[in-house]
Amino acid sequence: MDLVSRPRRLRVSAPIRGLVRETEISPRQLIYPMFVTEGKSKREKIVSMPGQFRFSVDEIVRECEELYALGVGGVNLFGFSKEKNKSGSKSYDSNGLVQKAVIEIKSAIPDLCVQTDVALDPYTSHGHDGLVIENEIVNDESVQVLCKMALSHAEAGADWVAPSDMMDGRVGEIRKTLDSNGFYNVGILAYSAKYASSFYGPFRGALESAPKNGDKKTYQMDPANVREALREISLDIEQGADIVMVKPALTYLDVISRAYQIFDVPIAAYNVSGEYSMVVAASQKGWIDREKAMMEMLLSIRRAGANMILTYFAKEAAAFLRAEYGSYS
Ligand code: PBG
Repeated sequence: MDLVSRPRRLRVSAPIRGLVRETEISPRQLIYPMFVTEGKSKREKIVSMPGQFRFSVDEIVRECEELYALGVGGVNLFGFSKEKNKSGSKSYDSNGLVQKAVIEIKSAIPDLCVQTDVALDPYTSHGHDGLVIENEIVNDESVQVLCKMALSHAEAGADWVAPSDMMDGRVGEIRKTLDSNGFYNVGILAYSAKYASSFYGPFRGALESAPKNGDKKTYQMDPANVREALREISLDIEQGADIVMVKPALTYLDVISRAYQIFDVPIAAYNVSGEYSMVVAASQKGWIDREKAMMEMLLSIRRAGANMILTYFAKEAAAFLRAEYGSYS
């Protein structure tokens, strides 16, 4: 055959494939979401997310030391609170689980980027991300509580706060609260385009935080919309978001890609619990290669345009990358 172009020529060996590779993943771009629980020396298995744990504060510090040694860029903390009430008041307790974990992690590993989730659902008896008044998930009153929560995390030493609640105007109010208390260097990683997704199921199992009534569709986005995501992202940037996030990742790669083309702030993507557990479950059945599926998934999210990825595979992928870069096997 007389062919001018033979694309296969650039695929003949691993070094050549490496030279023409367009996307790389580094452990530095990975953020590990972690769950903090009461007690000492505890690592409780999370049934809905095999391989993931709820850590007591001392154990989370140990785990963070390993993550840092592997080159993982950051951790994102969620509290597993047993003290749930209508107002979610445990969320901003300066002696709360997340606040204590932040203090301990930052004192042991000052450089690790410690991020905290800001939303009320792990702390409310009804399981919603905001306050519920007469059956409505109210916006402005919720934002006030979120500001207190974010401030308590900043006081503990968090590098970034990550509002995941989807209330309107919360990024601007959190920015003002942080600045007026001198925390102008604390960043905001905004869950800007967060969809009302079925892929959060295993996470809600981990925190026993599923909403008791109704769903989250009055605040989280309709999976059908992409223009609305761009509007949400631009509002958050106007209000001072340092990084904007798209969540989930795999079913919204088009949203990541659009956001990457349009906006000039770093983009984060959340490879959520359902995306993790699907791969784990299928690999446990022998239907899929866990490691290859993990890397292909993370690569697709980077290729779409995400700078950083929150993923339950962070530790495993970092270990894999470390081994991979040592050889061409
Ligand atoms: C809630 C929150 C959720 C996740 C992160 N923050 C669940 C929800 O919105 O119901 C999901 C994370 C995951 O599925 O891995 N503020």
